Amino acid sequence: MLEIRNLHASVDGNEILKGINLKVNKGEVHAIMGPNGSGKSTLAKVLAGHPSYEVTGGEVLFDGKNLLEMTPDERAREGVFMAFQYPVEIPGVSNAQFLRLAYNEKQKHLGAEELDPLEFKDLLKEKAKLVEMEASFMSRSVRFVARNRADFEDARSQKLPNVRAPLQWLPPREPVT
Ligand SMILES: Nc1ncnc2c1ncn2[C@@H]1O[C@H](COP(=O)(O)OP(=O)(O)OP(=O)(O)O)[C@@H](O)[C@H]1O
Ligand SMILES: [Mg+2]
Repeated sequence: MLEIRNLHASVDGNEILKGINLKVNKGEVHAIMGPNGSGKSTLAKVLAGHPSYEVTGGEVLFDGKNLLEMTPDERAREGVFMAFQYPVEIPGVSNAQFLRLAYNEKQKHLGAEELDPLEFKDLLKEKAKLVEMEASFMSRSVRFVARNRADFEDARSQKLPNVRAPLQWLPPREPVT
């Protein structure tokens, strides 16, 4: 499914990846380990298409297609992207809305069937069960963070005002330090 052959990449003129080879077959999970600064994050960013990293040699095939000549959004629609460890909060956009948009973009790209909100809800329910996630999480805003007890109770009882409201502008918050 993913094949990395003799991949070389540099950042700011320094060669970081010096000939990586890796083959990942469908259904396999690989953990890449190595000392700090050995290039694990660099490899992930190069695969995702980060513009600061220059590929100086080798090739990467995803389902037989040349990944390196695709833009980052094309790679994502093909199925290669980096997940956020700490995604930003998007008040007013529910997890279900966000996931359906992402899902349908990928379906469209692959020429597969797109799902309406009701159909997608059934799919989400099934997948949430699979990972033992409470189905009610899906109607909460993306990365909803309770700031106080009342927020938390509102979210828990599904009465959070922004849960089903349309997208609205909210003043930026001070970053949490
Ligand atoms: N933007 C950059 N400019 C210059 N050097 C960089 C840049 N990004 C990474 N490097 C260098 O590339 C090397 C590999 O870094 P990378 O972050 O890929 O390592 P890592 O294996 O993910 O490390 P860690 O375990 O600490 O996360 C390091 O020597 C780092 O200093
Ligand atoms: Mg890293």
